[in-house]
Amino acid sequence: MKTIALYPGSFDPITNGHLDILKRATRLFEKVIVTVAVNNKKDAVFSGEERVELINECISGKEWAKNVTVNQFTGLLVDHAQKMNADTLVRGVRQISDFEYEFRMALTNKRLAPEVDTVFLMPDEEFTFISASIVKEVAYWDGDLSSFVPEVVAKALKNKFRNE
Ligand code: PNS
Repeated sequence: MKTIALYPGSFDPITNGHLDILKRATRLFEKVIVTVAVNNKKDAVFSGEERVELINECISGKEWAKNVTVNQFTGLLVDHAQKMNADTLVRGVRQISDFEYEFRMALTNKRLAPEVDTVFLMPDEEFTFISASIVKEVAYWDGDLSSFVPEVVAKALKNKFRNE
């Protein structure tokens, strides 16, 4: 039986769509590790530590999240999965346009680590258009973020952009 799943992503920042996928994953796996990819090549608004902290704040006290832990990694995802003893990677697929990239990534990961499988989950319909980049765009122009991200994330985004 598959027990430990890794839910990787940039999470810059975590959105309601990510949380929807995470909640679904907690119903399927005994333990879910959300892991923030910290990649120096990518410009991120939040540091790895900040992203981990925001995710922790979003799930804090939630009954459904009692089997969730959060960490960060740099390097190859499959190496981190092996280190964490995870045999499954969880990725959310919102639309067909996500699929091509996800398919290539899953096949690459499978080539690198054949024992690690990727499972795709669909979010609820209401989250299918939400992405961290769209959320950052709305935040940058001081738009209403209440239906896109939890309040703690909205506040953190506003603080970031206010200080720019
Ligand atoms: O949220 P994102 O940006 O779509 O997540 C992509 C992520 C971080 C999961 C992916 O880029 C990744 O796994 N990066 C780590 C480097 C790696 O293992 N690359 C090989 C798989 S293509």
